[in-house]
Amino acid sequence: MHRRDFASVFAAGAAFMARPGRARAVAVAAPPLPLVNGRRVNDHLAALSEFGRNPQGGVSRLAYSDADRAGREYVTRLMREAKLEVSVDAAANIIGRRAGTDASLKPILFGSHIDSVPEGGNYDGDVGSLGAIEVAQTLAEHSVVTRHPLEVVIFQNEEGGLWGSHAMTSTLTAAELATVSRSGKTIRDGIAFLGGDPDHLDRTRKRRGDYHAYLELHIEQGGTLERERLNIGVVEGIVGIRQWDVTIEGFANHAGSTAMAGRHDAMLSAARFVEAVNRVVVAEPGRQVGTVGRIQAFPGAPNVIPGKVVCTLELRDLDAGKISALFARIEAEATKIGAMNGTTFSFKLFTENVPAPTDLRLRALIAAAASDLKLTFRTMPSGAGHDAQDLAQTCPVGMIFIPSAGGISHAPKEFSDPKDIENGANVLLRSLLKLDSMALGTPG
Ligand code: GLV
Ligand code: MN
Ligand code: MN
Repeated sequence: MHRRDFASVFAAGAAFMARPGRARAVAVAAPPLPLVNGRRVNDHLAALSEFGRNPQGGVSRLAYSDADRAGREYVTRLMREAKLEVSVDAAANIIGRRAGTDASLKPILFGSHIDSVPEGGNYDGDVGSLGAIEVAQTLAEHSVVTRHPLEVVIFQNEEGGLWGSHAMTSTLTAAELATVSRSGKTIRDGIAFLGGDPDHLDRTRKRRGDYHAYLELHIEQGGTLERERLNIGVVEGIVGIRQWDVTIEGFANHAGSTAMAGRHDAMLSAARFVEAVNRVVVAEPGRQVGTVGRIQAFPGAPNVIPGKVVCTLELRDLDAGKISALFARIEAEATKIGAMNGTTFSFKLFTENVPAPTDLRLRALIAAAASDLKLTFRTMPSGAGHDAQDLAQTCPVGMIFIPSAGGISHAPKEFSDPKDIENGANVLLRSLLKLDSMALGTPG
């Protein structure tokens, strides 16, 4: 159960809560606390999976697609049923508000996203989004009013690069707004398509201190919890992600009449590059990962030696310095590969999400919530990106993981057990109520 990992964290959390002058934790900590309706949240998940459904199961609900917009209408309806006051912010994030008893307190934000990767699954983002709505519904049904105002958020376009949370925490440049998303729409047009106002993104911009904290429930997307038979993952940090477009220039020529020795084959260099990325990344200990996930050869004919290849490179790790070091080694390998057959490599960075540790006090509080519910848990890093890493720039963040069957994600076979989803939503609810009773000062 890895409870020992938490000894110091618990101590820190307990010491913090015991400080004189802090808000009393007793009112909301006293049992019995409400529990979510597990059947309902799982029914909602099944209903959401109809929007963008693929014949092989799973969904393609790309941000800014018709399916995305229809799915958003569905969750908006659920949010209204949960007595949330719903609006769409300038960045097209959906926000559902619930007043607290103390208007001087900053809101607690919690939620996730409902857009998917192409041919994705029914759980990534959806569990956290519907879990958050279920928590709001449960509070409404039990007439629990928190001290802090609550805001449920459904971020737009998480999968395309955390755009909704970027817009909330930083100023998007004209070039960023002109980025073409997988739907074919630019970020600017996509925001307008979903009912946002790309000309007034400043209206949605949050500063440090604007939120009390951010909590996100999510599927693990890896196999650790399942393998170790644990119920809950307490996320200790979210990896940094850098993505590059890699252009390899060679010389297109006749595939029949050009001798093997005289070729400047960009595809051959690309093949060597893919192997080199793998070799460099596995060469040292750690959890770093590197992927070439997209590749295209030009002109793209069976009888023409490719003169140009465009592919992507993605590197992830909890340590930004390690990502830089790996990239430097990969660049050096690319130079060597290019020299072998007279081709050249150029790299253009197009995504940079900084690694983000979660807040120590929130980790302790999530662990305590899991413990109260007699659930087993451990701390773990997140290898996937999440909007929480952007939010970490403005407020303390915490993330709760539930098991993913077989560690499969970003694929139609993504699955989490209904009981695990119910457990996760209950941990979210309990963590939220504990958080409501805490004053958070400087980040832990
Ligand atoms: C988001 O899901 C990512 O990790 O790419
Ligand atoms: Mn996700
Ligand atoms: Mn994802």
